[in-house]
Amino acid sequence: MKVLVINASANKERSTTLKLTKAFLEGLGEKADYITTIDMQIKPCRACYACWFKTKGKCVQKDDATMIIDKIQEADLVIWSIPLYAYGVPSHCKALMDRTVSLNSPMMYVDNNGIAHHHGYEEGTKKTVLISTAGLPNIKGNFDGLLFQMRHMYGNDITAICCAEGSLFMSPNTQDIVTPYIEKVKQAGQEYKENGRISNELQQYLDTLLLPTEAFVNTMNGIFDKLMS
Ligand SMILES: Cc1cc2nc3c(=O)[nH]c(=O)nc-3n(C[C@H](O)[C@H](O)[C@H](O)COP(=O)(O)O)c2cc1C
Repeated sequence: MKVLVINASANKERSTTLKLTKAFLEGLGEKADYITTIDMQIKPCRACYACWFKTKGKCVQKDDATMIIDKIQEADLVIWSIPLYAYGVPSHCKALMDRTVSLNSPMMYVDNNGIAHHHGYEEGTKKTVLISTAGLPNIKGNFDGLLFQMRHMYGNDITAICCAEGSLFMSPNTQDIVTPYIEKVKQAGQEYKENGRISNELQQYLDTLLLPTEAFVNTMNGIFDKLMS
């Protein structure tokens, strides 16, 4: 299986999100091709719509996005490894997402829920996984913007692992808390390989906070207090 990982972390190889993505890949038993968006030259979309009306899906801008979009099209599975920035996608990755509009068509359809979409991105059939981490101890609401965007861009049935309290993965003192979560992400990769989805039980585990909110806030505030003084 051809797997493409789009690493949208400014922390590049040191990314917490990438750590989870690599665990998922281990469970999946697949190697991947990696794109690190912050290292790429990805110009913003110019909204010229040439890709829709003149060039049959090809963007007229010449930069790294051309090569990345080719890789997206060639991949059997695309894993978007996205840390949450300002409740959404980091800007360098958002520029790429905007440019993938070239994979869509202006032609619209209305789905069973009455929501209108453009045809495209292989009609939502491209296997897509979102793996995200965030700094705040909120599952509810925190990832809504990102999930909405990903589902509307790349298909309602994408698989998503959204892990709050990402800073716990950076400390050597929290291994007993994060190691079981990483193991479950590995299991998610295995389940995805076998069934093309994560079981409800495992999804529920992955959607649960690692530490209760108050405990996390108190621990982190203690650390931040020291860092600021
Ligand atoms: C510019 C910026 C914006 C952020 N915005 C949010 C946010 O809106 N909500 C949140 O919970 N965490 C936010 N964070 C924290 C990151 O999502 C978190 O530290 C994440 O685990 C980093 O993952 P990475 O190591 O893969 O880059 C933000 C971090 C940065 C640098």
